[in-house]
Formats: sequence, C-alpha cells, structure tokens
Amino acid sequence: MRLLSFLIIFLMLLSCKTDKKETPLKNNVMPQRGELSWESQIFLGNRLFSEKTCITCHDVHKSTIGPSVKEIMDVYQAKNGDIFAFLKGRAKPIVDTTPEQVAIMQANIDGFLQEISDEELQTIATYMQHVDDINPD
Ligand code: HEC
Repeated sequence: MRLLSFLIIFLMLLSCKTDKKETPLKNNVMPQRGELSWESQIFLGNRLFSEKTCITCHDVHKSTIGPSVKEIMDVYQAKNGDIFAFLKGRAKPIVDTTPEQVAIMQANIDGFLQEISDEELQTIATYMQHVDDINPD
C-alpha cells in the first residue's frame, strides 16, 4: 500500500515535469512583426491608422478631406489595387484622381509616410482591407 501511494506521487511529479517541458521557451519570446497573427496585424493597423493621422483625413464611413476607408476599399477591391504599393509611391491613385486631391495625398507619401516602416504600412493596408470586419455598417 505504501509502495503504491509512493508510486502514485512519483507519477504525479513526473507528469508535472513533462508538462513544463512541453512549453518551449520560444513561446515566451515576443514574435517578430512578420509573424504577427492576423488579429494582431489588424489591431496594430487600426491603431497606426489613428496614430499616424490617416484618420484625420479618412473617416471609416464618410468622405471628409479624403475619401472614406470604405470608399477606398470598394475601388481597390473592384480594380484589384495594391494599397501597400500606393503608399510606397509605386502605384498611381485610382480612387480620386482630381489633381488637387491627388496632390494632398502625394505630399503625405513624399513626406511623413517615408518615416513609417514597411511592416507598419503593411499592417495599415491589412487593416484597411478588413475594415468591414471590425466596422460593420
Ligand atoms: C491631409 C489629409 C490626408 C492624410 C493625413 C492622409 N490622406 Fe490618404 N488621401 C487624402 C486625399 C485627399 C486622398 C484622395 C486622393 C487620392 O485618391 O489619391 C487620399 C487618398 C488615399 C488613398 C487612395 C489612393 C488612390 O488610389 O486614389 C489611400 C489608400 C490613402 N489615402 C491612405 C492613407 C493612409 C494609409 C494615410 C495615413 C498613413 C493617409 N492616407 C493619410 C488625404 C489624406
């Protein structure tokens, strides 16, 4: 009887130990930007859209100084546009092509957008692509 309880305790201790082993150390390490989950990217993109002042000209639903995010996404989806390429200055505007409006956004691309990293621009683009998921009408 004594031996049996001893054995049970021993087995319990052993299982505790293997439990710990199953949690590899790398789970405690912060993931790189590229490894961010889809949810984290959208969360971060949403935050950057405000922090980087995009929101001051782009409301989600209604046109203000610039077209709304919904309007931009409708055109980009219909024309299979590449937001990241546009924000990098590698693709022409396809939403509002009136010269005065294009000049406003172009000044951003040549100006403060240069300070935003590719990873951050990518998360902003991902957020814009999924704006419907987190901002239903
Ligand atoms: C000072 C106002 C202003 C700010 C700030 C601003 N935009 Fe714009 N944006 C505009 C205007 C005006 C247009 C319309 C011209 C155009 O479509 O290129 C536009 C257009 C766009 C378009 C559509 C481009 C196309 O294909 O026509 C995208 C995408 C965009 N902005 C993203 C952003 C992002 C992302 C940010 C923040 C990093 C941002 N904008 C900040 C004014 C602004």
